[in-house]
Amino acid sequence: MARSKTSNAWLQEHVNDHYVHQAQKDGYRARAAYKLLEINEKDKLIRPGMWVADLGAAPGSWCQVARRLMGESGRVFALDILDMDPIRGVEFVQGDFREDEVLARFLELLDGRLVDLAICDMAPNITGNAVTDQARSMYLCELALDFSREHLKPGGHFLVKVFQGSGFTEYLEAMRGEFASVVTRKPKASRDRSSEVYLLGKGKKG
Ligand SMILES: C[S@@+](CC[C@H](N)C(=O)[O-])C[C@H]1O[C@@H](n2cnc3c(N)ncnc32)[C@H](O)[C@@H]1O
Repeated sequence: MARSKTSNAWLQEHVNDHYVHQAQKDGYRARAAYKLLEINEKDKLIRPGMWVADLGAAPGSWCQVARRLMGESGRVFALDILDMDPIRGVEFVQGDFREDEVLARFLELLDGRLVDLAICDMAPNITGNAVTDQARSMYLCELALDFSREHLKPGGHFLVKVFQGSGFTEYLEAMRGEFASVVTRKPKASRDRSSEVYLLGKGKKG
């Protein structure tokens, strides 16, 4: 089947992308690793011994970053609707985060303990309908914020990818209600043309 102009352009951009090459060299599964690395460089989120929840984790480059920065200590819990090849030291649940049964399986891993850090890079499949895509993405962000409300330690941090658009301001306000401070990050590996930004809630109010 002939490729569309859009997919050809995507392929061209991907092949020429500096971060794609760097990820291959460094053994990361996705260029997204450099987004977390840059944010972590500035905000010092990941420390040895932590319990980290990674929501929307596949193919797993954020898990790899967390594991490399924590060494043998701490635990990383990951969830994705897609399957993910195993990563040593990462406990994985496959399922749709919107389903209660999937959340319940994830929480079983935590065994009643709160995590120190929640990171969420979840993004729904794009339908092409901007209104639908924004609403779906915002819903996942809201669920991730709910997760932080319930399962993140007081003082813990929450990093979430949000697409700017409808509901963004309200979401930012909701985060401000939960955290001592909220900052916006747009790491260099995040493409300029993408409306994605990362919101970082620091110091969960307790
Ligand atoms: C941009 S990717 C995450 C990349 C990841 N941070 C990494 O470094 O490898 C977004 C992920 O969100 C997942 N996702 C989307 N909707 C989901 C849902 N409802 N439940 C669980 N995962 C979901 C996708 O399957 C996809 O793997």
